[in-house]
Amino acid sequence: MKLLHLDSGLFESQSITRKLTTQIVQRLQHDHADLEVTHRDLAASAPGHLSADALIAMGQPADQQTPAQQAEAAVTDTLLAEFLAADILVIGAPMYNFSIPSQLKAWFDRVLQAGKTFRYTAEGPVGLAGGKRVYIVSARGGVYSTNLSALDFQEDYLRTLLGFVGITDVSIIRAEGLAIGEEARNQALASAEGAIQDLAAA
Ligand SMILES: Cc1cc2nc3c(=O)[nH]c(=O)nc-3n(C[C@H](O)[C@H](O)[C@H](O)COP(=O)(O)O)c2cc1C
Repeated sequence: MKLLHLDSGLFESQSITRKLTTQIVQRLQHDHADLEVTHRDLAASAPGHLSADALIAMGQPADQQTPAQQAEAAVTDTLLAEFLAADILVIGAPMYNFSIPSQLKAWFDRVLQAGKTFRYTAEGPVGLAGGKRVYIVSARGGVYSTNLSALDFQEDYLRTLLGFVGITDVSIIRAEGLAIGEEARNQALASAEGAIQDLAAA
């Protein structure tokens, strides 16, 4: 069984998403001795924003690509192969400016490809990458699960992107209110860690 572990928070130490994604991966490794883990740190090594070369390369045979397009294709193909091979994804996704880090968006821009992970039909788009289990760690400074939910373009957006490629088995482990104060931060962390224990038990 293969697990793809994505982190996208800019900071290494003190990172809540990194701490929690690591706990999920360790717990799953404990439960599945055969788990093959690939860790991709999207902050340390970010895929470039989509460019004309990157997009053209997605639909162009290699022998017709320019050197710049071949370089982009190498990035895209590596990310796509890792994604398609994974049975389980663990995604660290802090809220940045109400949405997700641009590094994580850049990763989705590489793997959402017509004909590879989704296709359009007369009845609407169909996802081609279903059957994966996804754990998302969502961290945010404020609280959006109650009266600020209209400002949350992070969690539903991630569910939409994954759903578009056919992935519906998604669990969100949330730590929110992290910037409110030490007590709120500790509570949020404890609640998320409890959710990880419950997930693993289930
Ligand atoms: C650039 C940036 C933008 C952020 N934007 C928001 C935001 O819109 N809403 C919010 O509640 N918290 C926001 N935060 C706080 C982070 O979501 C929070 O600190 C989270 O824990 C970061 O993840 P990490 O702990 O893994 O680094 C922002 C933090 C940064 C660095």
